[in-house]
Amino acid sequence: MRILIADDAPLYRRSLEAFLTKEGYEVLACSDGAEALVALESPDPPRLAILDWVMPGMEGVEVCRKVRHQIKDPYIYIIVLTSKEKSEDIVAGLEAGADDYLIKPFEAQELRVRLRAGKRILDLQTEGKRQEEALRKGNEELKQALGELQKTQSLLVRQEKLASIGTLSSGVCHEILNPLNIMSATIQVMKLDEHPLEVNENLDVIMEQIQRATKITNNLRMFAHQKEAEIKPVDIHDLFDKTATLIEHDLELDNIMINRSYDPDLSLVYADEDQLTQVFLNLLNNAKDAMKGRQESSLTVQTKALDTEVEIRFIDTGTGIPDKLLDKIFDPFYTTKDPGKGTGLGLSIIHSIIEKHNGTIKVESEEGKGTTFVILLPTENSKG
Ligand SMILES: Nc1ncnc2c1ncn2[C@@H]1O[C@H](COP(=O)(O)OP(=O)(O)OP(=O)(O)O)[C@@H](O)[C@H]1O
Ligand SMILES: [Mg+2]
Repeated sequence: MRILIADDAPLYRRSLEAFLTKEGYEVLACSDGAEALVALESPDPPRLAILDWVMPGMEGVEVCRKVRHQIKDPYIYIIVLTSKEKSEDIVAGLEAGADDYLIKPFEAQELRVRLRAGKRILDLQTEGKRQEEALRKGNEELKQALGELQKTQSLLVRQEKLASIGTLSSGVCHEILNPLNIMSATIQVMKLDEHPLEVNENLDVIMEQIQRATKITNNLRMFAHQKEAEIKPVDIHDLFDKTATLIEHDLELDNIMINRSYDPDLSLVYADEDQLTQVFLNLLNNAKDAMKGRQESSLTVQTKALDTEVEIRFIDTGTGIPDKLLDKIFDPFYTTKDPGKGTGLGLSIIHSIIEKHNGTIKVESEEGKGTTFVILLPTENSKG
């Protein structure tokens, strides 16, 4: 173990050094207080120090005070040396932060046991610090675990709430869709008869509103209560082409082109065809709405076979989405469309469908330039 001694009397210093070296210490000897302080302030100082009380320049007690004030870590065990007749020095030394004292001339056996006591205290201090650190780490881990638990709990509560809202609203949706269907059928029958011009127009308005209400209710039902997926191998290209025909006419009216960039190596994905159709349709509708009235609009559908996944990109040249809204668009009922136009459920439905298929969906967008949705779905090969 290293020990520092500071004494201005060469004879005394040398005898102390000789004794300590014989005792197995590695001794660092200083001849004044300032030198001792510099050594004790080094990054890796000796942990034991014997300081003479009276030294020219900085006295031992002053060094002691400075060490206590400036060096918190590691702890340095300090013994002050004083002469027999000055017992008041002992009190002052201890008050300045010394751990122990030794009366000059020192007694070999006494110094030995006092140093042993000092080492015991340093060991205890090191062990205490180790335990404190372990405790701090444990606390940190506990805090983290608690945070995660709270997150899981609130997620569970939310899921529980959503599930009960889901059951409730899918029942309500069913009840609303019945009369809507009857109304729509009745109006279709009424339109077969001859009516004055104005009545026909009114019937069209009613019909349009019924269709709007039906869309909202259908979306809500789909969101609230998705039926069990029927998983089978699906050819993505085929399915997209089929889905696109449902909306292609509308797109043409708005001068929107669909470009296809299909990877010929694409393997089949395991999926529910109806649900994937819904995903494509919702994305197509969103892209259409975002590009309406813009110059040279196009939607590019790009597929790529990855190791165990298929990547499908929907790249539109629409309005884009401001950065600050990007993490909102998947929230249920979040819409920027006019009242009655959008339910804000399209992307929520897509999200939960993709999640159920063990896939992911991400969005990249640049305001004024366009938006890209990237879907990753596991391929047939990755199943089982
Ligand atoms: N391709 C896109 N380009 C720009 N904004 C988009 C795009 N897709 C979605 N958004 C934004 O995200 C919002 C939420 O989309 P989502 O499909 O969930 O609902 P919606 O389209 O508003 O309503 P619904 O799908 O019921 O008709 C949209 O209102 C729109 O602001
Ligand atoms: Mg939508």
